[in-house]
Amino acid sequence: MIPIPTPGLNLWARELVKRSPEANDIFRVQGPLTTVEKLERDLTLAGRGDKAAHRAVAGLIEHILERYHETHRREFPKAIDLARTVERVHAADPACPRGLADHLAIMSDDLEGHQRKEENILFPTMLAGSCGVLRFPISRMMSEHGDVYEQLARLETLTKDFTPPQGACQTWRALSQACRKLDRDLREHMRLENDVLFLHFL
Ligand SMILES: [Fe+2]
Ligand SMILES: [Fe+2]
Repeated sequence: MIPIPTPGLNLWARELVKRSPEANDIFRVQGPLTTVEKLERDLTLAGRGDKAAHRAVAGLIEHILERYHETHRREFPKAIDLARTVERVHAADPACPRGLADHLAIMSDDLEGHQRKEENILFPTMLAGSCGVLRFPISRMMSEHGDVYEQLARLETLTKDFTPPQGACQTWRALSQACRKLDRDLREHMRLENDVLFLHFL
């Protein structure tokens, strides 16, 4: 059995299926798939423009909006509040994550602009089935994802790899945990867009 990198399917799997129709069989030995893994599989295997692809595109966009766009909008303000509290209360502590609240606020603002472009322009165009006009907006969104990866690297540095110091107060621990979750969610959000949804239209 050929192991598939997890989570989900990706470009590698798509290429594999293209080269070998029998490779479809490996998708049947994965055990129960989650709803999003099924959407990934359906979109990876569907031909562009067919009904199955349209269904999978719609399902994946809905998932991205609910699970990621709305979650980020809820969770960034909480993380920023936690960071402001920790920076204020522990200002004299050498381990204090100075600048973290401002960094999170910049990330949140940039992300809001990015998500609005996806919600108002890119996703509706995808749902309308207009493939030809998508190359430029997709490459722009992917370039903005590159900026997010750089912001995540800075987040990792500021939070000392999302690890609070020994004996940290509850707020500091909650802050590290919130930042770790933002990092994990953003990476999975961008993977789904870059490697699955956007790839389908390129
Ligand atoms: Fe997005
Ligand atoms: Fe995006």
